[in-house]
Amino acid sequence: MLNKRILTPYEKNQMLKYGINLEELLNTDAPVEYITGHVEFLGLDLLVSPSVLIPRIETEELVELAVNKSEILGKKNNHNQILQIVDVGTGSGAIAISVAKKFSKLGIAFQITGLDISLDALEIARINLQNINPKLPISFIKSDLLAELNDRVNLDKLGNPDNSIDLIIANLPYIPSARIKILDNSVKDFEPHLALDGGPDGLDLVRKLLKQAEEQLSKNGEILLELDITHTQKKMKEFENKWKVKIIESSASGVNFGILSHKNLECL
Ligand SMILES: C[S@@+](CC[C@H](N)C(=O)[O-])C[C@H]1O[C@@H](n2cnc3c(N)ncnc32)[C@H](O)[C@@H]1O
Repeated sequence: MLNKRILTPYEKNQMLKYGINLEELLNTDAPVEYITGHVEFLGLDLLVSPSVLIPRIETEELVELAVNKSEILGKKNNHNQILQIVDVGTGSGAIAISVAKKFSKLGIAFQITGLDISLDALEIARINLQNINPKLPISFIKSDLLAELNDRVNLDKLGNPDNSIDLIIANLPYIPSARIKILDNSVKDFEPHLALDGGPDGLDLVRKLLKQAEEQLSKNGEILLELDITHTQKKMKEFENKWKVKIIESSASGVNFGILSHKNLECL
């Protein structure tokens, strides 16, 4: 960093809010959220550390998509069953906790499992749950995508006789590797690459997840993905032999969302 940083009004406000001297931000490219340790996501005050991605405003839209699915999933989920939701790559727990807060207001029986390969991220997610509402039905578990889910969580005992998932929400690393080096310094030098790099075309983890989900998603289940802007309907065609795929553009900026369900069934 050559020149002193010019702080935005948001950055100044955040520093003042948490009583931190502005000087601490002037000689670094670090995101203000890693200095204060806080970020606001859908009105929730979440703790963040350099072990987790700072939740982005566009991901709030992914949560809204999940909430829009709740009523239909609730009805299809043959009464008396607890809707099983999985947040893959949970990071700070932003998606799991905000979906749980919204679903609990809708009177639907549900259980959320937040999965991450990073133990440090899971520690932050657990602190966030503790601070926000430890009674929300969420467990955070270490797993490589869905690989260890069934070993660790007996969905059958949790009220799901098929032992399957009804809704998978995933904001996985999706940035194509070659683009990482041209990201803003505040991202590439400070945020965990484990949370950013999606392999050559950004779809490495999505491919793996969809393979695992063939067996683990219930027959009426849905998958909601946050994706890169280059992951268009055409690009996602490779998944269409197994999945019904609908790509929508974010109304905010720079990302797409994917809504997927098993191919042989009507979309919910
Ligand atoms: C883009 S971040 C999203 C974090 C959070 N869900 C959010 O929206 O703010 C992706 C997360 O996926 C996790 N991750 C990366 N590879 C994974 C894998 N193979 N299995 C599970 N989680 C993984 C990273 O540790 C990171 O927390």
